[in-house]
Amino acid sequence: MARHLLLVANTPVRNAGTWAGNLMIKYHHREFPSDVFLLLAAAKAKLKIADENGVEDMDVEKMYGTCMKNKIIVSMALPPLDENKFIFKTYKVTPRAISSHAYVNAAFVLPLDPATTEVTERPCLLFGGISGTFAHAAATEHYLTGRRLAEPTTLKAALQTLLDEVQPQPDPELADVVYRRRLAASLLYKAVLHALGERVPARLRSGAEQLTRPGLSGRQQFDTDPALWPVSQAVPKLEAQVQTSGEAEFVDDQPTVPGELYGYYVLSTVGDAQLKVVDGSAALAVKGVHGFVTAKDFIGSNELFTCAMLLKGMGMDTDLLTPELVFADGTVRFCGQPIGLVVADTRELARHAAALVRVEYAQVAPPVVTIRQALKKQPQGMQQSPICPANVTTGDPDGALQAAPRCVSGVWEMGGQDAFAMEAHVARAVPCEDGQLNMSCATQGVKEVVNGVADCVCVPANKINLEVRRLGGGFGGKLSNAVPIACAAALAAIKLNRPVRIVLDVETSMAMCSSRFPHYISYQVGFDDAGRVHGLKLNTVANDGYCITVNSFVEIQQLVAGVQNVYRTDNWSVIPGSVSTNLPPHTAIRGPGMVNGIAAIEMVMDHIAHELRMDPWEVRKANFFAADSQVPRPFDDKQDHEVFARMVEEMFDSGDIVKRQAEIQAFNKANRWRKRALALVPMRYPMALWTKMPAMVSVYDQDGSVAVTCGGVEMGQGLNTKVAQVCALELGVPLHQVSVKPNSSLANPNGIGTGGSISSETSSMAARSACRQLLQRLQPFRAASGQPALSWLQLVQTASQAGVNLTAHAIQSPPAGAPPDMYTVWGLTAVEAELDVLTGESLLHRADVMEDAGQPLSPAVDVGQVEGAFAYGVGLMMTERYRFHPETGRRLTNRAWNYYVPTHKDMPRDFRVKLLKNNRNPVGIFNSKATGEPAVCMSVACLLALRQAVAEARREASLHAWFQFDSPATPERTQMACDVGVEELVLA
Ligand code: MTE
Repeated sequence: MARHLLLVANTPVRNAGTWAGNLMIKYHHREFPSDVFLLLAAAKAKLKIADENGVEDMDVEKMYGTCMKNKIIVSMALPPLDENKFIFKTYKVTPRAISSHAYVNAAFVLPLDPATTEVTERPCLLFGGISGTFAHAAATEHYLTGRRLAEPTTLKAALQTLLDEVQPQPDPELADVVYRRRLAASLLYKAVLHALGERVPARLRSGAEQLTRPGLSGRQQFDTDPALWPVSQAVPKLEAQVQTSGEAEFVDDQPTVPGELYGYYVLSTVGDAQLKVVDGSAALAVKGVHGFVTAKDFIGSNELFTCAMLLKGMGMDTDLLTPELVFADGTVRFCGQPIGLVVADTRELARHAAALVRVEYAQVAPPVVTIRQALKKQPQGMQQSPICPANVTTGDPDGALQAAPRCVSGVWEMGGQDAFAMEAHVARAVPCEDGQLNMSCATQGVKEVVNGVADCVCVPANKINLEVRRLGGGFGGKLSNAVPIACAAALAAIKLNRPVRIVLDVETSMAMCSSRFPHYISYQVGFDDAGRVHGLKLNTVANDGYCITVNSFVEIQQLVAGVQNVYRTDNWSVIPGSVSTNLPPHTAIRGPGMVNGIAAIEMVMDHIAHELRMDPWEVRKANFFAADSQVPRPFDDKQDHEVFARMVEEMFDSGDIVKRQAEIQAFNKANRWRKRALALVPMRYPMALWTKMPAMVSVYDQDGSVAVTCGGVEMGQGLNTKVAQVCALELGVPLHQVSVKPNSSLANPNGIGTGGSISSETSSMAARSACRQLLQRLQPFRAASGQPALSWLQLVQTASQAGVNLTAHAIQSPPAGAPPDMYTVWGLTAVEAELDVLTGESLLHRADVMEDAGQPLSPAVDVGQVEGAFAYGVGLMMTERYRFHPETGRRLTNRAWNYYVPTHKDMPRDFRVKLLKNNRNPVGIFNSKATGEPAVCMSVACLLALRQAVAEARREASLHAWFQFDSPATPERTQMACDVGVEELVLA
């Protein structure tokens, strides 16, 4: 019981909440799968319940038939249970390791004669997660009474009785009823295996217990070059202390200014309709409400084309883009689309009044949410997307497929992902003198917000003042998403001539904001008996959401690069398509497209291995890109191939791959209900230094200290730390003498949003150029040779007195008219996973993540980035699943309660990250490479390890065919893929 209680919520919640409070939640919400209820009810706990008339003793279950008004639960007593006579066993199956309510939970008390296994009296079989009215499996309890548990017929009939009486309540927010029913049977079977102990064969006993998660350990290996320090030195992130102590200021921490108002969105409640009536009069009648802003109030443009200049720069046709709207205008394109903003004195008042706005819809149509639904309407989505010319077409894929000795085809789907940063979306606009607008906004894109607001409220860009000190996480979600929110705040502020602040709560954010693109992948691959691919046709379809933005372009472009990964591409056709749906426009979230591309081709490799019954790594090896490949690869050089080869060698050596694979085989043989697998996934992540990034460096003649501001936004990735390290090295001052200032629209008006993992290095490059300008200006003031050298302060003061400008500005940008510098980040990851076949839960035992970071610029930061990116991918691959309302298209998994970002308990228990030693990158700054995103792609190994474990489980039931395994591979999907029939739940 104590162990089970540790699975309730998490430590802070358990410290704040009480068991009695938990019972009362269940009292008011009977469908709530309360663990506390199950445990106490099964243990026949006696409650003392008091009211004005006195204290009454009551069983837990009786309380649920009692009126609890004006009553208080005073105490609880657990009667002793003779462990020689009773088996007490409980289970909880959850979508992630902790902090989650159960799909299904159960508590069993089996009164058992240990000698005969007879159930001596009526057992207690309690389940949660089935429905608001179902708790006891009464018919099964009745059936089992007096029967011998060890009799195979007893189990068979008990399971059948249970399946007959367990009828889960369908609910689109919850797991499928088929899974929940299966879980009920699995849990009873587990309890029986547990009760019978050594009476059942050891192979089956593997089903008795749930997975336990050992403590977490980690290893971090990296290289440093002391000659470059503080560059390449493993320093803590500059903000680490203020962030962990809570001192760091985020936008919503800024105190309110006099007269400040709060905006709260009114969102559409259907996914595809005409807006017939939008009536804010009831809201406006509330005292303290000052305005209701809608599309009708626009001064400038309601239409956003964020980053469209980017496409123009690439010579692409921006006419293909469709606008994102700040507010719905005439039609509603997705459920959750902003219709208006209520502005009031307080946040609570604005929220209350927003609920009073009357919206009526006409021509409400069923929303199209999934790619499959969209393809029915737009089959052309399977064709090349017009938005992006990127594709791979080499040789003769059709001919090669026809001639290949073997051929397989498959489809699979990858879900999207919310950015889910800890800091909310927030924007504040303060109208001020000279027609200026002081903006604060949690954004990755200062220029993008300034441009959007300027267009939206017709204020010249030079009058919009925006500073971004830091973000509490961006992950790509605060680039295009921040713009309409800033526009709404600016519009309301100008209309009311008052400061306006908007802070999105999680539900609003998940309803209206863009998230990662989901993808549908289909392929046909021809190959030989050695696993060598002869021809490949792979089509992908991205879910654009309701409009086509620059992000649609980025996603596909990256996807096409990702699909090629480390492989030869002779006779390949890779064609990316896209469809429109009734969802918010999707956006570029950490590792956009690339993670999907790599996942797609790695799934194909596994499919080939499955067909040939080969080790998947051997298939990969047979297809590695080599110097003799017909289709050349841009910018991978000899050194790159050596780096990758070295990685493979080191992985097999330090990762003990061969030995562990043998152990896994033995484990799988010995265990029917637990399966393990190890997946090895390579990565090639091309980087192009294509962005324009400014920086400004000032030296203060007071004390020689240095300040720098640059075009990249610090969002946790350590950009400021890297920039400061570079300035300190260049100017020859200690790191603590460099202070990094917020990104500002004054110093950095024409940069580009932070993203693509290259902003830290391009900001550092710009800062280095600015430092070098300063050094040049200081050069004439250095002491002549033979004279004693001037200290840094003397030098700075001498130059300053002579009128030298000690502020320098520089822009890092690709050479005009020439392609940007490019390099490749290489990676290799081994993940060992274990699966509980009966529940679908899994455990990542160990992950060895190797990445080539060149000579890391800031190794502690870079290792953290690799770990963080991998963790982000664990969520994408395994836990973060969206569910939508079938009729409205509303996102139902829209808060931490039901959208499961992985926790530390979901991380590999043994997590080893190694940045490859002694590598170089001539086009990177100080030989470094980017680390922010690539490791997201390495999480593909988690998905594939789990898939292999499922395949092992299926083999036990003679299911040898390839099966579709979509991501995220939640326990629900994983267990359903195992396809365990009730007839397989046996005792011998
Ligand atoms: N790390 C933290 N802690 N928080 C973030 O929001 N964003 C990621 C990655 N690492 C992010 C992060 C994303 S999406 C990108 S593109 C890169 O950081 C940006 O890093 P860069 O500034 O070096 O380009």
